[in-house]
Amino acid sequence: MKKTVIAFAGVAMFGFGAAHAADAAKGEEIYKQVCFACHDAGVAGAPKIGDKAAWEPRIAKGMDTLHKHAIEGFTGDAGAMPPKGGRTDLSDEAVMSAVDYLVGKSK
Ligand code: HEC
Repeated sequence: MKKTVIAFAGVAMFGFGAAHAADAAKGEEIYKQVCFACHDAGVAGAPKIGDKAAWEPRIAKGMDTLHKHAIEGFTGDAGAMPPKGGRTDLSDEAVMSAVDYLVGKSK
């Protein structure tokens, strides 16, 4: 029993320290699996990754709004962003880290 508790504490501590780096890596992975399909080339009106002019007014809406729009979907003047990029099996956290990656590369 004691052993289990110690092992759990170890995992919890490691998880805590590694959380941020893991999130960033995950965001890139998800972007490359899902979001790139539209956001790399600007398919269907999607703002391209790295296109600062396209992202500036979106970033101005605030990260909370961008996270929400990526999770719930968003139809704007340019086209329609499907909820979670069509991958509704992804967790909200996974989608948020992909948004952070995409936006981070676009400002
Ligand atoms: C099927 C194509 C498609 C896929 C896949 C896709 N997007 Fe989009 N996305 C769009 C389009 C189109 C828009 C622009 C909508 C508009 O403003 O009219 C958009 C807009 C956005 C925005 C800006 C929303 C806003 O409020 O301005 C974010 C953030 C975003 N996408 C994140 C993501 C993430 C993260 C993924 C992967 C999980 C993803 N997208 C996958 C098509 C896609």
